[in-house]
Amino acid sequence: MNFDPILKKIREIYNESEAFIPLHAPVFNGNEKKYLNETIDSTFVSSVGEFVNRIERDLAAYTGAKRAIAMVNGTTALQLALQLVGVKNGDEVITQPLTFIATANAISHAGALPVFVDVDRETLGMSPDSLKEFLDRNCTVDEKGNCINKRSRRTIKACVPMHTFGFPVRIDLIENVCKEYNLALVEDAAESLGSSFKDKSTGTFGLMGTLSFNGNKTITCGGGGAILTNNEEIADKAKHLSTTAKIPHAWEFVHDAIGYNYRMPNLNAALACAQLEQLDTFLKSKRKVSKIYEEFFKNVHGITFKTETANTKANYWLNTIIFDDPDEKEEFLKVSNAHKIMTRPIWRLMNKLPMYENCTRGNLHNSEYLEQRVVNIPSSTIHNNK
Ligand SMILES: Cc1ncc(COP(=O)(O)O)c(C=O)c1O
Repeated sequence: MNFDPILKKIREIYNESEAFIPLHAPVFNGNEKKYLNETIDSTFVSSVGEFVNRIERDLAAYTGAKRAIAMVNGTTALQLALQLVGVKNGDEVITQPLTFIATANAISHAGALPVFVDVDRETLGMSPDSLKEFLDRNCTVDEKGNCINKRSRRTIKACVPMHTFGFPVRIDLIENVCKEYNLALVEDAAESLGSSFKDKSTGTFGLMGTLSFNGNKTITCGGGGAILTNNEEIADKAKHLSTTAKIPHAWEFVHDAIGYNYRMPNLNAALACAQLEQLDTFLKSKRKVSKIYEEFFKNVHGITFKTETANTKANYWLNTIIFDDPDEKEEFLKVSNAHKIMTRPIWRLMNKLPMYENCTRGNLHNSEYLEQRVVNIPSSTIHNNK
């Protein structure tokens, strides 16, 4: 395949004839510096401060969740969320093998073992059919209401679908299966802030959902994350445990649990507040880029540009192309990166990594198919006069 027209199109979109084009660059065009200066002037740079309280209110308002709890990153947010829905040492947690490593790591950090079920080719995220097939074949709900894996004899406590690159999974059907098997639904919405399913934000369907504001995400505060939940009691516990489980008192140091130092610092929250103010502008710009790609790839034989599925709105965090031929994908990665256009393959499947190769898994045909064919292409917002 001749990749020249694709590379030319990418350079045209980003108005860059020669310079390196990153996969996703952050943009700081709003109140970032102002809020950072205010934070420094206030001396409240750490885990107490106005911006960290404000980002929680703003995120709840934006997503429609009753509560948001600001965390140091998305990995710790997911770990704590899993612990709060009752995941204990030695339990199992179902997720998808096609995800960023942090999903599986957070499950491990919570003391559990990941179990991998397949994804849908259309959504790139957990398939409700694969989830149901795995549970029907391998699991039973005991008299106490616990979902038991009949082979391992372990309790499967939770299910963590991930909205890959911002494309929402079929979350309504996943929710139904979780109810049938008494699994706590915890959405890894790290990549999907701004995405929705039937007009409801991703991350707000399950008992808990988690976000990331890492430097490569749609909005960033350097490092940061959040827990979303509609359950006030769980939200209070999340705040308590993420702030060393200290009992409020004017001067005494008394703690009533083994807590964590997981609260987002005010300095990062200042950045997060400024970025969240611009999220709708970013989303508009990202949609514009994705439309240009969509039109362009209609005429490229052998490549499918991934678009949002029915009933969903994607944030188009990372634009995604799917090659018919895995060899062409490899060649494209070589050629594009050699031409200073940053492109990346999708992740190696979790079950192929040494830490997770012995984990229980279902049939993973779609994950294997996508692993061989998916590539992300430059997806930064276009701004100013570009
Ligand atoms: C799917 C997914 N889950 C979790 C995370 C973890 O977030 P963080 O890097 O903020 O810890 C990320 C991104 O980094 C992610 O892409």
